[in-house]
Amino acid sequence: MSALLIRGGRLFDPASGVDAVGDLLIRGEHIAAVGEVEARGDEEVIDAAGLLVAPGLMDIHVHLREPGQEQKETVATGTRAAAAGGFAAVACEPNTSPPRDTAERVEELLEIARREAVVRVLPKCAITVGQRGEELSDLAALRAAGAAAASDDGFAVADAALMREAMAAAKRAGMPLTVHVDGPEMVERDIGLAAEIDWQVHFSHVSLADEVELIARARQRGLRVSGEATAHHLALCRADAPEGDASFKMNPPLRSARDRGVLRVGLSAGVISVIASDHAPHSAEEKAQPYEEAPPGAIGLETTVGVVWTDLVHGERASPETIVRAMTAGPAEVLAVEAPALRAGARADVTALDPECEWTVEPERFESKARNCPFAGRKLKGRATVTIVGGRVAMREGRIVELGAAA
Ligand code: DOR
Repeated sequence: MSALLIRGGRLFDPASGVDAVGDLLIRGEHIAAVGEVEARGDEEVIDAAGLLVAPGLMDIHVHLREPGQEQKETVATGTRAAAAGGFAAVACEPNTSPPRDTAERVEELLEIARREAVVRVLPKCAITVGQRGEELSDLAALRAAGAAAASDDGFAVADAALMREAMAAAKRAGMPLTVHVDGPEMVERDIGLAAEIDWQVHFSHVSLADEVELIARARQRGLRVSGEATAHHLALCRADAPEGDASFKMNPPLRSARDRGVLRVGLSAGVISVIASDHAPHSAEEKAQPYEEAPPGAIGLETTVGVVWTDLVHGERASPETIVRAMTAGPAEVLAVEAPALRAGARADVTALDPECEWTVEPERFESKARNCPFAGRKLKGRATVTIVGGRVAMREGRIVELGAAA
């Protein structure tokens, strides 16, 4: 059995109450010991002095584009980007071509992931057939095939009666719903449905102050409602976008400085319990079109940790506890999966971060196929330096460890 000893890092898992300098021992696919470690001498050693050793980060809002849009990204390149950015697991949106709305397509994706992914891939499926908002997908069959959540990302289900049906079907299937936020009216409607049906709803890429306030009130009422913010909505506002630069065009768009301020407060208050990238790769040709025609979306897997660490932690707007929770236990709770944790017996998904590492964003060096990055040229402080997935090193100091290389 392979063994890894991560030595002398700051072990940091706020959800489990762990914060102490110590060692982490991994044997096979699991964590064998935390803190006081009895090494045998057969372990591969990673020196983690000065690093923050956290549970493996999860990003539950990622576009991998396969099948159908492989010119933008593939499972192979997208998961390499994830590993490079410190993510041990990603949940990917169903707006592929064709959309992932059948059990077969979920199985197909899982098969590609088994062959080619360097991090865990949790497939999301479409709430409605073809994401057209007309007819429900078979959520029970999709769940049985391995769908981690249902989402019509890119679109909100406009028909309220259909959304009520979707929520009831999701409850019967035990399927988490992560919905595309399209303004406060829709958030209010879906909170009402969650209360009526007594099911869970997670709001993707929340960006407006009014949306944050609605989610805060729903949580105070004890409803199972959660919110997510992207790194770009937390760090940037409308005034930061150069006129006509399509790298800053996303959906929802960048908002006012006040909205961004409320989003940051919501994050620290736990109303926004998830940070995601909404990694949305597009080809250079598509983004080079006139602004109005360029597709919305920004890549983010390789910048999210650096951006939130720079802007929120070093910027003293959020604590490291808040950030790590929102990238580990927070997303795991939304998907109702076992949270990554620094605990003996837990699955060995681990991310080490160097909070002091200063670097410049150079998209041409990214693992992602795409370059549509609004942070290009930015100097950041904070970076993931090791990503471990199920006991296997997937990334170390920026280099992807090829599949099979660790065997
Ligand atoms: O900016 C976005 N891009 N927002 C979405 O909701 C969809 C995404 C995409 O698929 O490119």
